[in-house]
Amino acid sequence: MLERYEATARLREINGKQNKSYAVLTFGCQQNEHDSEIISGVLEECGFLPSDINDADVIIFNTCAVRETAEEKVIGKIGALKALKYKKKDLVIGIGGCMTAIEKTADYIFKTFPFVSFVFGTNSVSSLPSLVLNAVLGKRQNGAPDDEIIPEDLPAIRREGYRADISVMYGCNNFCSYCIVPYTRGREKSREPEAIISEAKRAIAGGAMEIMLLGQNVNSYGKGLSSPVTFAKLLDRIASLDGDFRIRFMTSHPKDATDELLEVMAKHEKICKHLHLPVQCGSDRVLLDMNRRYDVKKYLSIINKARALMPDITLSSDIIVGFPTETEEDFEGTLSLCREVEYDSLFTFIYSRRSGTRAAEMVPVSTEKEIHGRFDRLVSLQNEISRRKNEALVGKSLRVLVTGISETDSEMLAARSEGNRIVHFKGSPLQKGSFVNVKITSAKTWSLFGEQEI
Ligand code: 5AD
Ligand code: SF4
Repeated sequence: MLERYEATARLREINGKQNKSYAVLTFGCQQNEHDSEIISGVLEECGFLPSDINDADVIIFNTCAVRETAEEKVIGKIGALKALKYKKKDLVIGIGGCMTAIEKTADYIFKTFPFVSFVFGTNSVSSLPSLVLNAVLGKRQNGAPDDEIIPEDLPAIRREGYRADISVMYGCNNFCSYCIVPYTRGREKSREPEAIISEAKRAIAGGAMEIMLLGQNVNSYGKGLSSPVTFAKLLDRIASLDGDFRIRFMTSHPKDATDELLEVMAKHEKICKHLHLPVQCGSDRVLLDMNRRYDVKKYLSIINKARALMPDITLSSDIIVGFPTETEEDFEGTLSLCREVEYDSLFTFIYSRRSGTRAAEMVPVSTEKEIHGRFDRLVSLQNEISRRKNEALVGKSLRVLVTGISETDSEMLAARSEGNRIVHFKGSPLQKGSFVNVKITSAKTWSLFGEQEI
């Protein structure tokens, strides 16, 4: 494989004579969204210009493998690319991300779709110029070597100038028994704090109003560094930087959520008082089978401490319904935990069997019908709680960051509160990316409505 710089230079030379373009289609989580910003940066460095998928000369899919439905969606969309390739013979198609990080799936995609030029994993984005160059020269390629060290000089094209996603670490060591991520993203690797802080400084100087620190398990940040540092210390340093911006972070694993983290959150106005702390299930027995390494008591003690330090904190969580060993009684534990915590919002998933994980070997004890029934009960409980909590905000004033025009009503702006609630109000599109105080006038289950305060 050619070195990145050499391949980039060759592509720039080729593209210099023609206006070649690229499109990246992203599936899955915020980490993937951010990886796509880097994929875009690398392609633009090679001289490709952004374009619509139908006009692009290079199409990259950044895939998700977390649940079967996500994979099925990707496979369907890859199949649909055949028509584009038929019309444009020299179209380059690359499939990357979590699906193709699994060798078996990568082989399947490479063999099933001969019009795919190359497949690559989550840790080989720096090989992209070389993969694209080979494809332009007519050579197909199944995979590229993983980067041993985190490449710090890859450029990123931020989707939204007002917000900056910054990865603090990659990979995961937890091996929750249902989860494919440790297999798709490899072992935990933390970036050096200085690299993260300079990226944050550059983003703030460039106009970012919101910094989102990303990692599969941010609370175990810093363990493998030559001078270990905690995530709380990193957060403290970023929150101490000058400027009018706010900070979010995700995802926190309850087993690693420390008092130090909560104290730093409480100390800094710039850190959003919002904690996404996935519980996954409210039964100790299932948590053990899930290999989560905490129990309900420990989880609730973190929640109580967070609320004692930050009474207005917003809480959200991920919950899996229908884990193979989950019985009706276990599920009732989940309902009762949700009643007790009263999350502001919840991401609910039906368990999806992922081949290669430990849970894939477990025999399901409940039927699909029972699982779907549980899922609906959990969603209706949460809807009731979310609605009640949103209604309690009517009459209050919230400081929100405007994210753009509302997707549901083009006359309205959409914004996010510190607690990550969606707030709609009338204003000018020019306000995108600025902080505004909004008085809440009405509430729905998923969003709030209000008027700008002058
Ligand atoms: N099935 C269903 N949900 C899953 N998640 C991870 N793996 C699976 C799976 N196999 C959920 C977890 C995690 C979120 C990102 O996705 O709740 O926190
Ligand atoms: Fe998956 Fe668990 Fe790692 Fe989260 S902490 S990415 S759920 S293995």
